[in-house]
Amino acid sequence: MTTETHSTHSRQPGGLLEGKVAVITGVGAAETIGAVTAALFVEEGAQVLATDISGAQEATAAALGPATVPFQADITREKDVEALFEHAMETFGRVDILVNVAGNPGGRRGPEVTVEEFESLTSVHLLGTLLTNKHAVRAMVPAGGGAIVNFSSAASFNIDKRISMAYSAAKSGVNSLTKSFAVHYGPQGIRVNAVAPGFTLSKKNHRVPPEALEELGGKSALGRAGQPEEQAHVAAFLASDRASFVTGVVVPVDGGWSTRLA
Ligand SMILES: NC(=O)c1ccc[n+]([C@@H]2O[C@H](COP(=O)([O-])OP(=O)(O)OC[C@H]3O[C@@H](n4cnc5c(N)ncnc54)[C@H](O)[C@@H]3O)[C@@H](O)[C@H]2O)c1
Repeated sequence: MTTETHSTHSRQPGGLLEGKVAVITGVGAAETIGAVTAALFVEEGAQVLATDISGAQEATAAALGPATVPFQADITREKDVEALFEHAMETFGRVDILVNVAGNPGGRRGPEVTVEEFESLTSVHLLGTLLTNKHAVRAMVPAGGGAIVNFSSAASFNIDKRISMAYSAAKSGVNSLTKSFAVHYGPQGIRVNAVAPGFTLSKKNHRVPPEALEELGGKSALGRAGQPEEQAHVAAFLASDRASFVTGVVVPVDGGWSTRLA
C-alpha cells in the first residue's frame, strides 16, 4: 500500500481550468445555466467562446471580460456549428472543452404532443448534440484529446407527467449520444460525459408560481430546487483534468430527484 498523498492544497483557488479553451453553447442572458457556466469557467482560468442563438451571448460575454468571445450560432445548423469551431480555432488556436448547454423546453404534456414540438425538441437536443460533438471532436483529435460535457436532464431517466414526452425522449437520446461519442473517441483521448439537472432556478424558472416551485423543489431528496451554479460546478469538474478517468457517464445533479421512487 502506498503512503503517497496527492495534495490539492497547493493549487491556487480558481485555477481548475487554467489555460483551457472552452466552447460553451446556450450562453443566453444572465442566470441561464450557460451564462453561469461561462462565468465559472472564466473564474477557473479558461478562455471561452460563448455561443447562443438568441444574440444574448453578446452582452453576457461583454460582462465577463476579454477572456470571453461571443459568437451567434444555431446548433441545429451544421454550417453554423462549423463556423463556430472555425472561429474558436482562429481566435484561440485550439479547443480543449465543449460544454453543450443549449436546449429548449417542451411545453406540452403526454399525449398532447405535436409533430412541431417533437421536431423542435429533437432538433435542438439530439441534432444539436450530434453536430456540436461531431465538430468538437474534429477540432480535438489533431490536438490529442479534449473533454465534452453535454446537458441532459433528470427527465431522461424516468417520467414525470408534467414533463413533455418529446423532451424526455430527446434528453434520453442525449445520454445515448454522450456514451457513443465517449466510446468512439476514447482512444483519441476525448472524454465525453453529461450532466443531468433536476429542477434548477435558471432565469426561465424565476417565473414559476410559488406553489409549483414548492412542489417541484420538493421532488428532490434535498427538498429544494437547484441553483445554476450547482450545475456549472459539476460541468467544470467533468471538463477538468481532475476527471481524467471519467468518461461515458451521465451524472444526475438533481438533489436526489431521480433516486426517489416517486
Ligand atoms: N433549468 C432546469 O430546471 C433544467 C432541468 C433539466 C435540464 N435542463 C437543461 O439545461 C440546459 C440549460 O437550461 P436553462 O434552464 O439555462 O435553459 P434556458 O432555456 O434558460 O437556456 C437555454 C439557452 O439555449 C439557447 N438555445 C436554444 N436553442 C438553441 C439553438 N438551436 N442553438 C443555440 N442556442 C440555442 C437559448 O437561446 C437559451 O439561451 C438545457 O439544455 C436544459 O434542457 C435545465
